[in-house]
Amino acid sequence: MTGSDLDAVTTARLLMRLPREADRDRFVELFCNEDFMVFYPRVLTAGEARDRFDHMVAVCQGIPFGKQPVVELSSGLVVGYAGVDYIDFEGKTWLEWGYRLVPECRGLGYATEASQALLAKARQTYTGTLLAIIAPQNLASQNVCNKLGFTCWKQASVGGDIRNLYTLPIGEPAT
Ligand SMILES: CC(C)(COP(=O)(O)OP(=O)(O)OC[C@H]1O[C@@H](n2cnc3c(N)ncnc32)[C@H](O)[C@@H]1OP(=O)(O)O)[C@@H](O)C(=O)NCCC(=O)NCCS
Repeated sequence: MTGSDLDAVTTARLLMRLPREADRDRFVELFCNEDFMVFYPRVLTAGEARDRFDHMVAVCQGIPFGKQPVVELSSGLVVGYAGVDYIDFEGKTWLEWGYRLVPECRGLGYATEASQALLAKARQTYTGTLLAIIAPQNLASQNVCNKLGFTCWKQASVGGDIRNLYTLPIGEPAT
């Protein structure tokens, strides 16, 4: 068993584990796919997608609940990702929660299931406030966010686009 397997989290239908080199081609394919990247400013070029995968690996080396592959147990396929990435917003570096699934795996509760499992891991290792940034018209994502316990903070411009911002404090409250 590898270190990455030991860090894996399983649910009834899914496995979340750290990204490995063998995942590269799958994520490059996904990051370049218009359907997968809906509600993102644009699809990535192949070069940008490879960089994004490298970034995913790097973040996961430091954060056990970094954005990581979501594997569907029934098919064995990587069907998306869930977890956090760093984002700078209003002069502060935040951990931003996100998820993204292939179209055929949406509407099955996977994003909520994967996120709940990874949030349990986050609560064991991190104290702070998580941020979620969602396009106002992305109702599915806002539903997931609400089910995870995030609450609406405000609407703001992020990268020039109006976004709904949600927060979720986790870990021990400061004394
Ligand atoms: C957002 C996304 C990850 C949600 O994944 P999912 O596994 O389908 O989410 P869940 O099934 O756990 O929950 C979705 C909820 O939204 C609801 N929903 C789905 N589509 C909806 C829509 N178009 N309008 C309103 N509600 C919708 C579902 O009914 C469900 O709510 P319920 O459990 O109360 O019935 C998925 O749709 C996706 O990958 N979208 C494209 C990428 C994206 O938008 N990522 C987020 C960027 S902020």
